[in-house]
Amino acid sequence: MTSFLRPLAYRYRWIYDTVTAVSSLSVGGVYRLRGLGLDALHPHLKSGAAVLDLCCGSGEAAAPWLAAGYAVTGLDISPRALDLAAQRHPALQRVEGLAEDPPLADGSFSAIQMSVALHEFPRSDREQVLRSALRLLEPGGWLVVVDLHPAGPWLKLPQQLFCTLFETDTATAMLEDDLPAQLEQLGFDHVTQELLAGRALQRITATRPR
Ligand SMILES: C[S@@+](CC[C@H](N)C(=O)[O-])C[C@H]1O[C@@H](n2cnc3c(N)ncnc32)[C@H](O)[C@@H]1O
Repeated sequence: MTSFLRPLAYRYRWIYDTVTAVSSLSVGGVYRLRGLGLDALHPHLKSGAAVLDLCCGSGEAAAPWLAAGYAVTGLDISPRALDLAAQRHPALQRVEGLAEDPPLADGSFSAIQMSVALHEFPRSDREQVLRSALRLLEPGGWLVVVDLHPAGPWLKLPQQLFCTLFETDTATAMLEDDLPAQLEQLGFDHVTQELLAGRALQRITATRPR
């Protein structure tokens, strides 16, 4: 089930951008949120490495990677979001496709980022998306996932309100699941989880085995 606000937020970008700005306050603002993937993986990567932003939307979380000189591809299902990405971040290579079955070659990326996107997928599709990420990474390549986590006491209510207004059942399902355990079970190595923003957000890094 979802509220009438969710389709409006995807239709009118100013609503989406405002909701993101407000909900990212707990992590230090929207620039900090957008930079969480890069901050985690930058020390592990060669300059100019190939990076995939899986479910890139309008490219806001790809922007810090572009600014840092990486060769960034953004994949999204939404042509509307990709058109906006083309306007806002022209250096982003854009691919329209399904994250469950990306039209991209095996082992072609040194790093893959999923920024607040994994919660959009039902459990069975989530597994398929993560398997695809493993396939697309080169051996030793890095995945970073930034997404919702069950909040601690201070942010429990705001998180429930946010999920009720803007998310679907898939987000609630993800909050019940142990993502690091799922990544390990799928074959990722070096799975590390950090809890941020009063535990309302998790950043997980993992590698494809060599
Ligand atoms: C909440 S937005 C996050 C966008 C971006 N990563 C960010 O940090 O701003 C989720 C994105 O996932 C995309 N998406 C949803 N289902 C998808 C699928 N099956 N394959 C590819 N992209 C998908 C949506 O179009 C949307 O742009």
